[in-house]
Amino acid sequence: MKKNKATITAIGKYTPEKILNNFDLEKMVDTTDKWIRTRTGIFERHIAAEGEATSDMAIAAFKDMQKRFGTNPEEIDVIVVATITPDMFFPSTAALIQDGIGATNAWGFDLSAACSGFIYAMVVATQLVESGRYKKVLVVGSDTMSTITDYTNRDTCVLFGDAASVVLVEPSENEEYGVIDYLVKMDGKGKDLLYMAAGGSRNPATHETVDKKMHYIYQEGKPVFKFAVSKMAEISTELLKRNSLKGSDVGLFVPHQANKRIIDACVNRLKLEDSQVMINIDKYANTTAATIPLGIVDGYDEGRLKKGDLLLISAFGGGFTWGSMLIRWSL
Ligand code: ACO
Repeated sequence: MKKNKATITAIGKYTPEKILNNFDLEKMVDTTDKWIRTRTGIFERHIAAEGEATSDMAIAAFKDMQKRFGTNPEEIDVIVVATITPDMFFPSTAALIQDGIGATNAWGFDLSAACSGFIYAMVVATQLVESGRYKKVLVVGSDTMSTITDYTNRDTCVLFGDAASVVLVEPSENEEYGVIDYLVKMDGKGKDLLYMAAGGSRNPATHETVDKKMHYIYQEGKPVFKFAVSKMAEISTELLKRNSLKGSDVGLFVPHQANKRIIDACVNRLKLEDSQVMINIDKYANTTAATIPLGIVDGYDEGRLKKGDLLLISAFGGGFTWGSMLIRWSL
């Protein structure tokens, strides 16, 4: 089969209506708007309505894509869902989305790589399209972080938000556009620094796991921060270098939005100008698998991502997992 180049041909996003801002959090835990803004760059985050789950947000993001690009769900071949907050362990969130959007000819699956989930899913979608076997792969980044966040713990509750965003990956009609290259990595030694302890086979749900708050995110902020800065900068530099590209060639850098200080440090190391960098953490906080596609949609809507631009995406997350991808933008 002929090897195709894969490219993004449609995008969509969804953020829940409810907004929780820093002043709201001041009333819930011992924190201040000033601390949150200066230490993280976050001002507000969207929170799912009661009963609104990860697949609901993804379906809404797909509807936005449909409205913008007229995407026909019946033509979708595969659905790859990056999430760490699936509706249920099984069936997969992909199956629920398939039913919800009417993608009657698609198969699919969920993929767990925390904040790097979207990049991992893009790597899979690229391979599926490049192989020549599949023509339309829907990549979903959707996380309802509010459902695994302890709103009595100031260390984590200020950091996360809920959102979904989707992209469609198809063979590129023009060889100039599409995914150029990517690098993805993992280091399981990070497992003790960022995790949710219970609910899986290691610690199945019991009254005790609930009482001990083991169904919430646990994070050791400082070591995660340091690892994130060095790994995101390192992998992006390696990727640019092996494609004979420089920081100045990048049209838009869309990094994972976990902390503005992580982004700033990374941008510094990559020697990028502020005008090359997408930052929307102030509006959404860390939406895990949704941050990068959300940044792509916002960048596109703001006219900062134009046809022919070199797009660099990079993420870091639990596992540890991390990765970067270079795309010649085709929309
Ligand atoms: N409000 C006020 N004070 C706070 C808050 C808060 N919300 N949170 C922590 N503090 C306090 C601490 O208790 C500490 O007080 P102390 O000095 O009296 O002990 C002080 O502020 C400093 O705390 P640090 O943890 O040193 O703060 P730091 O500057 O490291 O920021 C943060 C913490 C924001 C968590 C940062 O470390 C970070 O962003 N880490 C990386 C997060 C990340 O990238 N995660 C990966 C993705 S998540 C995923 O994959 C699911």
